[in-house]
Amino acid sequence: MINVLFNLFILALLISKVALPPTDPKVLLMQTILRIDSSARHEDSHSRTLGDYFEKQWLNQNPDTKRLSRDLASHPIEHIQQDTISGFYTPLEQLTDDSIRATALSDELINELQAADVLLITVPLYNFSIPSSLKAWIDQVSRIGHTFSYDGERFQGLVKTKRAYIICTYGAAGYLPGNTLASANFLQPYLQFILNFLGIQTVHFFSLEGTSSDATTIANNVAHIKSMIDQSVSA
Ligand SMILES: Cc1cc2nc3c(=O)[nH]c(=O)nc-3n(C[C@H](O)[C@H](O)[C@H](O)COP(=O)(O)O)c2cc1C
Repeated sequence: MINVLFNLFILALLISKVALPPTDPKVLLMQTILRIDSSARHEDSHSRTLGDYFEKQWLNQNPDTKRLSRDLASHPIEHIQQDTISGFYTPLEQLTDDSIRATALSDELINELQAADVLLITVPLYNFSIPSSLKAWIDQVSRIGHTFSYDGERFQGLVKTKRAYIICTYGAAGYLPGNTLASANFLQPYLQFILNFLGIQTVHFFSLEGTSSDATTIANNVAHIKSMIDQSVSA
């Protein structure tokens, strides 16, 4: 009897192997893009419009992409608080119901980030830095043991996202390296640093400067950024 059962088991195993459909190569190629918008404006926002353009070009090139998004202006991310921070530093086995609740949003945002192969952030320069809406998101996803580790000597990024594309908009011009306002740009160096710190090695910036200029200048600058996006997406 045991022999018969064993033979049946082997037969079932063989049939299941033969009957399994081959893995669809499209499933293997499927990527996830997480888009984060941070301009407080919905109307006339250059960063959102260029974000739409980037996404359209990306989806043309990579039609099997799964899309996730967060609009930090429509749905602001809560700032971290005392109990969020306590929860971040409490070992898993000691978490209470309260600390689990206090870190639930962070868990959700980190899961989203970890599920993304590609991160797209659209971000305006506000008072020489990033909008506080984006900083709130960064504070929720930058978490020891989850997105970075520290062994007493060195930090290591734990985010699996491979690449980030950052679309930045600046009212004035001259913020890029080597130019007159470069030392006042606390947006690009900060995002470059924090994303690398979290483990995202490749960070591309598309910087639209002079959005407060005249219409012709803006149109020329937008066309230039679009061509940079085209090149980058099709590379
Ligand atoms: C609150 C606020 C602060 C700003 N601070 C700066 C600044 O420090 N330097 C600058 O060049 N432009 C500044 N701007 C202009 C924006 O960077 C510019 O309008 C940009 O296009 C906004 O992005 P958006 O078009 O996607 O909304 C500021 C705009 C706002 C609303």
